[in-house]
Amino acid sequence: MHSASAPLSYQAVGHLGDSTFSLQSKSTDLCLRPPTNKDLPSILEILQNNANSKFDRSLSEASIAQLIEIAQRWTSLSEPLTSLMFLICHPNHDAPIGIAGFGWIGPMRGIQVGDNTSRAGVAGLMIQPAMRGKGYGHDALKMVFHYGLHELKLVEIRLWSHSGNVPMRMLMERKFGLQTEEGDRDRVDEFGNDLLWAVTKEKLAGALSTKNS
Ligand SMILES: CC(C)(COP(=O)(O)OP(=O)(O)OC[C@H]1O[C@@H](n2cnc3c(N)ncnc32)[C@H](O)[C@@H]1OP(=O)(O)O)[C@@H](O)C(=O)NCCC(=O)NCCS
Repeated sequence: MHSASAPLSYQAVGHLGDSTFSLQSKSTDLCLRPPTNKDLPSILEILQNNANSKFDRSLSEASIAQLIEIAQRWTSLSEPLTSLMFLICHPNHDAPIGIAGFGWIGPMRGIQVGDNTSRAGVAGLMIQPAMRGKGYGHDALKMVFHYGLHELKLVEIRLWSHSGNVPMRMLMERKFGLQTEEGDRDRVDEFGNDLLWAVTKEKLAGALSTKNS
């Protein structure tokens, strides 16, 4: 049995909602911070790049107006949270090198803890093409998983992908050591994604300890 309390991969600076809030990676120079209105052009540049959105029909088939609406939604926080996206920043680059976080946060069907409905999240990740293959996707997603599971107390983080998306499969299966949900193999989500990972504290800690042993 693996411990579910593996050390966090980030150091939090401030608290969610503070203007200076960020997550600093403990293993690379990456920093994750929620976007503000000033970041809208950077977000749109990332979302409009076909190399980033081609496997995500919710973005690749969206109009400019819809992309602006999505980007604007990411610049404000609701209570309770319904999404939380981060810009992935690197000290050597003025513009963010990617986006990662939860495009959806909501009730986890069927599980009640006390008076509160337990919550789940759907994670997403994009790294700008020039910055890929350097481990930044792995590091940023690990920070997102840890923050979601430990700080936001999400019971489960779902990540959908397309089986043709080799880099994402390599990242999840080879680098994280996480397996897709067997029972959901024939299920395809509304955007054509046919792979689903359901990440919990236990599964992540188990996978990471196996990778590190
Ligand atoms: C998926 C994505 C986030 C990965 O980001 P990244 O920073 O390159 O990720 P990492 O460097 O941490 O790991 C990627 C791994 O896949 C491997 N990889 C990438 N392309 C590959 C290919 N065609 N064949 C085999 N392995 C491949 C890399 O070599 C690396 O593994 P390694 O470090 O063992 O060599 C990035 O490719 C991306 O932004 N894609 C577009 C957006 C997207 O599809 N997001 C996922 C939606 S669910």
